[in-house]
Amino acid sequence: MDRSKIPTVPLSSGHHIPLLGLGMSHSGGYSHNALLYALTKCGIRHIDTAKRYGNEVMVGKAICESGVKREELWLTTKLWPGDYGYENAIQSCLDSCKRLGVDYLDLYLMHWPDAHVPGKSAREARAETWQALEELHEKGICRSIGVSNFLIHHLDQLKEDCYVVPHLNQVEYHPFQKPQELVDYCRRNNIVFGGYCPLAKGQALNHPTIQKIAKNYGKTPAQICIRWSIQNGVVTIPKSTKEERIQENCEVFGFVLTDEDVLTLNSLHDGRHVSWDPSNIL
Ligand SMILES: NC(=O)c1ccc[n+]([C@@H]2O[C@H](COP(=O)([O-])OP(=O)(O)OC[C@H]3O[C@@H](n4cnc5c(N)ncnc54)[C@H](OP(=O)(O)O)[C@@H]3O)[C@@H](O)[C@H]2O)c1
Repeated sequence: MDRSKIPTVPLSSGHHIPLLGLGMSHSGGYSHNALLYALTKCGIRHIDTAKRYGNEVMVGKAICESGVKREELWLTTKLWPGDYGYENAIQSCLDSCKRLGVDYLDLYLMHWPDAHVPGKSAREARAETWQALEELHEKGICRSIGVSNFLIHHLDQLKEDCYVVPHLNQVEYHPFQKPQELVDYCRRNNIVFGGYCPLAKGQALNHPTIQKIAKNYGKTPAQICIRWSIQNGVVTIPKSTKEERIQENCEVFGFVLTDEDVLTLNSLHDGRHVSWDPSNIL
């Protein structure tokens, strides 16, 4: 697909993130050929990875092999909690840049709200770590900075403790997990809401309502889930290691779900998590 057709969303950093990206993960989540295909044949320009996924070196290699210019790409990676704390966070970011073969990141996220830094509460450790991200942002090494899996109380604390409001919060989001209060909070505070696991790790694909809606549009259940995220204004990063599925997941801009179908999909929320549930993190 023509990449100019992938819309972007403005962040309060002044940068624009493509609404659709390609996810990576650590357990069977990386295929070099599929990433190359996404970059060279599907117009994918937004890649979501993390130190945790263990593939930053390969992602850097794929970017290089694809011939796509750095300035055309949106590259997100994440800081693992084991690397929290001011000094560690700065070093970890520089290490990620080195592995990816880049001199700046488009978006750097604190991966998870729990934080174990000796002698510090989780709140203090998050604040100290966030100050490192503020510094990396100030220096232009991270053009935008954000968090992942943060709930309202984590964001409220960060607001009290630090200066820069996160530019984006990346949270689980699919028809069974639609945390509307958190979405509304983020919007009120100018934090872009990024959604992960848009297909509920595949669980959404055989739900009868989603299958019925898909049939009505002549689309696949995956395309319906991705389109639903996009129509709800949520940045979405479906993961696939298969070329034909990546192609399919990108073909979501030539149709529009009716308001009624969006509401029907909204009503499938049952609170289930297919990834992590951060509600017990103080
Ligand atoms: N910030 C966080 O804490 C966090 C947590 C989890 C995930 N994430 C991010 O979100 C991304 C997506 O999450 P996810 O991979 O867990 O879940 P997902 O995107 O909801 O689902 C991926 C699963 O669906 C399959 N799939 C993809 N497209 C398909 C299609 N068109 N038809 C049928 N099956 C399809 C994939 O298998 P194949 O690969 O075999 O196609 C894979 O098993 C991750 O890659 C990661 O970047 C972030």
